[in-house]
Amino acid sequence: MKRIGVLTSGGDCPGLNACIRAVVRTASYYNIEVIGFMRGFKGLIDNDYKVLDYKSVAGILQRGGTILLTAREPRFKEYSYRKKAFENIKNLGIDALFVIGGNGSFQGAYLLHKDFDLNVIGIPKTIDNDIYGTEYAIGFDTAVNNAMEAIDKIKDTTMSHERVFIVEVMGRDSGFIALEVGMATGAEITLIPEYPLPIHVIEEKILKAKEMGKGFAIIVLAEGVASAKELAEILNQRLKDKSIGEIRYQVLGYIQRGGSPSAYDRIMASKFGVFAVEKYMEGNKNFMVAYEDGQLKIKPLEISFGKIRIPNIQEYEINNILSL
Ligand code: F6P
Repeated sequence: MKRIGVLTSGGDCPGLNACIRAVVRTASYYNIEVIGFMRGFKGLIDNDYKVLDYKSVAGILQRGGTILLTAREPRFKEYSYRKKAFENIKNLGIDALFVIGGNGSFQGAYLLHKDFDLNVIGIPKTIDNDIYGTEYAIGFDTAVNNAMEAIDKIKDTTMSHERVFIVEVMGRDSGFIALEVGMATGAEITLIPEYPLPIHVIEEKILKAKEMGKGFAIIVLAEGVASAKELAEILNQRLKDKSIGEIRYQVLGYIQRGGSPSAYDRIMASKFGVFAVEKYMEGNKNFMVAYEDGQLKIKPLEISFGKIRIPNIQEYEINNILSL
């Protein structure tokens, strides 16, 4: 009987369990055994694993986080630890390793292929949705929905008190979350690192909102641009004589990454998992699952290295047209 390994690595996100379930159930369907490594690459090094069968993934589809736990493992940069990991993989008779992770995790996995010729397969996940080579990564849709729901609530106060409010969303260096959340909440201003706006333009937009009699304004700020605290301080200082009241801010933080995955994430994670196992069974090696032009594809794992995806300018323009 063939055996494969699976792990989740990097930051957690909603949909990981749905994907683990899909990998395990598909493998079981085709009579392949699955070993789940705990805490990402750490579990490979420490030989910390559990056998996952059809039943062991029951009831996890709708749960956030990851039953396999996750971590970032700096030891994996060292050859000696990778060798240890590979020996554990070999002793377990594992034929291919499925890594549900982001760009950094794919690079770690690729080293196992380069050093020891292991077949490694990447399934993209990150709430940031910036993995080069795929238009979708597991977790993004839920994060956008989580942020949207939080901002809808903040908007009640913002409107009632006629305030200007900055809401900082995650995304690391990327603006995808902010862009979609800005559109979904009708933000007056959306700030993303890929298309930076000078401070005087932000200021003009706030004043324009007030002039138009809007009374309130929501600024969705990607964390890659600046911190909300920093921006609020700068704007409060610059606008102190304009009678717009104190600009408040809120950092949404980890609520974006937690909770039950949206239907879209459950479905995408399930499709990614089934597709990955089926493509492996066809004999493909060292690939990542990619979603492009409405279709699932496989691409060489290395395609995503050293690059990140950026939002297209048209998407950004939509926000501009609809806001101010
Ligand atoms: O990459 C996902 C992400 O949530 C980013 O949006 C954020 O900048 C980062 O991880 C935070 O990482 P951590 O919580 O692991 O420190």
